[in-house]
Amino acid sequence: MTSKLDQCYNIDDLRLLAKKRLPRAMYDYIAGFAEDGVCGERNRSAFYHYEFVPRMLRDVSDVDTSTTVLGESIDFPVILAPTALSRLFHHQGEWAVAAAASKMNTIYSLSTLSSVSIEKVTEFEGPKWFQIYVYKDRSLVKEFIDRARTAGYRALCLTVDAAVSGNREQDLRNGFTVPPQPSFKTVVETLTHPQWLWHHFTSPTVTTANVSGERMAGKNDTNSFLSYVNQQLTPTVTWSDVEWMRSQWDGPLVIKGLMSVEDARMAARMGADGIVLSNHGGRQLDHAAATLDLLPQMVDQVGAQLEIIIDSGIRRGTDVAKALALGAKACMVGRPYLYGLSAGGEAGVLRALQLFQQEFHRTLQLLGCPSVAELDSSYLRMAKQGVDFETGSAVQQPTSLQVV
Ligand code: FNR
Ligand code: LAC
Repeated sequence: MTSKLDQCYNIDDLRLLAKKRLPRAMYDYIAGFAEDGVCGERNRSAFYHYEFVPRMLRDVSDVDTSTTVLGESIDFPVILAPTALSRLFHHQGEWAVAAAASKMNTIYSLSTLSSVSIEKVTEFEGPKWFQIYVYKDRSLVKEFIDRARTAGYRALCLTVDAAVSGNREQDLRNGFTVPPQPSFKTVVETLTHPQWLWHHFTSPTVTTANVSGERMAGKNDTNSFLSYVNQQLTPTVTWSDVEWMRSQWDGPLVIKGLMSVEDARMAARMGADGIVLSNHGGRQLDHAAATLDLLPQMVDQVGAQLEIIIDSGIRRGTDVAKALALGAKACMVGRPYLYGLSAGGEAGVLRALQLFQQEFHRTLQLLGCPSVAELDSSYLRMAKQGVDFETGSAVQQPTSLQVV
C-alpha cells in the first residue's frame, strides 16, 4: 500500500497534506504572506515570464545535477532556507530537517530561532550554515558565532530583511502572536487535530533552543523565549553592524534578504562571499519585487564578486532550472520543506527534497543539458506575455536573452 506521502507527486500535494495535518494557525503561519500577498503572487508569476528552448539529440543518460556553493559540493542546487521553530509543525522539528538534508547531501541553514539547538542539529552529518541576525546585545551575537564555529558550521547567513516583522494579518486573526492570543475559533479548530495535539503536549516545550535558560532568568516557556528574542531584534541595524559581524567570523559570510544591486555591491565591499536574493518569501514587505525578476541584473552587476543564491516562490525543478540558467548559483526553499515536515516528519522533508531533485534532473534531461555547469540563458527566452522590466509594459515579441 502506498503511503499518503508517496501519493504526493509535487510540492503542492505536500502543502495540501500539511494543511490537513496542521492546526489552522500553524498552517497559516507557514503559508501566509504579508498584507495582500501581492509579493507572494509575483514571486510565483515571475517564473511564467520565461520559457524554455530545449536542445534535442544529446545524450542525457547521465546528467549531472551536482554543484558547488561557497566551496561546498552538494548533489543538487536546492538548499534549505532557515525557518523558525520547526517543532511547532512536527515533533521531530529541525532533527527531521537535518536528517533529510544529510541524506540528500545538501546544505541546511539552521535558523537562529530554531527549536533544536545549534549543537544538537550537528548529530546529522552534512554541510550546515547558521542564520543569524544582528541583535541589540552583541554578546549574544558573539556567543552564537562562537557556538556555530565550534559546532562546525561552514557559513554564517546574516538575515537583514527583518528589521521589523512583516504585517501578517492571518497571524493576527489567529492570535498567532507573542504572546499568543488564540481566538475561540482557533482553539476549537486546534482541538480537531488530536494527533498534532498529542505530540505537542507529550514533547518538551517548544522554545528558541539557542537562547540559554540563564538569559531567561529561569523562565522556560515558549513565550518568554520568543519575547526575549523579539526584544533583541532592532530596527537600528546598519552596514556598520555587518562590518562588525565580518570582523567576528572568518568563514564564508552570506547576506540574506538583499534586493537591490547597490546593496549587493555594498555587501561585496564589506567582504561578503554571497547573497541570498530574497524577499523572505513575500512575508515581509508586500509589493516587493519578485526575486526572479531582479536576478538577471544582479548577476550582471555583481555576479563576478558574489555567489548569488535566490529564494522566494521556488516550487518546481523547472523553477530551479530557470534561476540557474539566469545565473543563480543555487536556490533556497523554505515552505516546500516545511510542508513536507508537517505532512510527515523526516520522510516528508525527504519527499520534498527528492521531488526537487527528480524534477530538476528530468528538466535537465528534457532540456538536453548535461550538467549544471552547462545550464545557461541559451535555454531560455522571455515568454510572449512577459514583462519588460525597464518599462513594466508587456513584451509583445519573444526575445532571446542577453544575460550572463
Ligand atoms: C521563514 N524565513 C526565515 N528566514 C530567516 O532568515 N530566519 C527565520 O527564522 C525564518 N523563519 C521563517 C519561518 C517560516 C515559517 C517561513 C515560511 C519562512 C524565510 C525563509 O528563510 C525563506 O526566505 C523563505 O521561506 C523563502 O520563500 P519560500 O521558499 O517559502 O517561498
Ligand atoms: C518569519 C520570521 C521568523 O518569516 O523570519 O516568520
